[in-house]
Amino acid sequence: MKCAVELRIPDIIHSQGGRPVTLALTASRIPSPSPETAYLARIMGLLARKTVFSAHQEGGETLYSLTPSSRWLLQGAGHLSLAPLVLLADHQTTVSPWHNLRDCIKDGGSIAFQIAHGCGYWDMESKNPEFNRTFRDAMACTDKFVMKAVVDAYKDGFERVGSLADVRGGTGSIVAEIVRLYPHIKGINFDRPHVVAAAPSHGGVSCRGDMFEAIPSADAVFMKVREPSTYEGINHPALGLLSKDGDGRSPERR
Ligand SMILES: C[S@@+](CC[C@H](N)C(=O)[O-])C[C@H]1O[C@@H](n2cnc3c(N)ncnc32)[C@H](O)[C@@H]1O
Repeated sequence: MKCAVELRIPDIIHSQGGRPVTLALTASRIPSPSPETAYLARIMGLLARKTVFSAHQEGGETLYSLTPSSRWLLQGAGHLSLAPLVLLADHQTTVSPWHNLRDCIKDGGSIAFQIAHGCGYWDMESKNPEFNRTFRDAMACTDKFVMKAVVDAYKDGFERVGSLADVRGGTGSIVAEIVRLYPHIKGINFDRPHVVAAAPSHGGVSCRGDMFEAIPSADAVFMKVREPSTYEGINHPALGLLSKDGDGRSPERR
């Protein structure tokens, strides 16, 4: 997947106006003086078996088309794209901790990322600007989907909010979008100091700090979360809604 996204194979196929394309044509659009077609064929065959692309035979040749999966990997202007998320998930920095899972189990209490990189996930951002860019691009691409769903579903809730703090707000694009749609809201973007320092102001309020110490006071707190158990250990009343039982922890972690 990473290879296909980096070589922009979905965009190459898409550029043919929806017609299935040959391997030779795909290879000819890769920016390289002599792309290795046999290697590309193996990658395309694997991705076709996984239904990332579709493949069919015609005139003794294999022709490739996009599927619903690979349409999400288009990177051209105007496409809602998940390509940046693939690049984050398959980034060397993300993948290498998987090799340390044995140690986590044997030694208990270890964190695979820490073993692999000698620092925590959030410290890697300041250590590795290239990884930081990959991470921020991935967040930005998911923000577009998430915010559409949140704003569609939560319209009336936002009407009643006077001030809102996006805790772990990153570059502040989420709170900026909420304030754009609900200009009466005073939006606060809260994140770690180096993240806020590098974030655009979006014309709103930025606030730096560590959420484990304190979070800004506001009528409502916004958090984009994957699952509540990520936040085990945060003991703040404003975060109580994260779990059904109101203590911010998922049931299996209690
Ligand atoms: C998964 S990102 C989400 C960013 C943003 N909400 C978005 O969806 O684009 C998590 C964010 O949490 C921030 N973060 C991590 N630990 C933090 C802490 N202790 N206090 C405040 N922010 C923290 C990171 O800097 C990062 O920007």
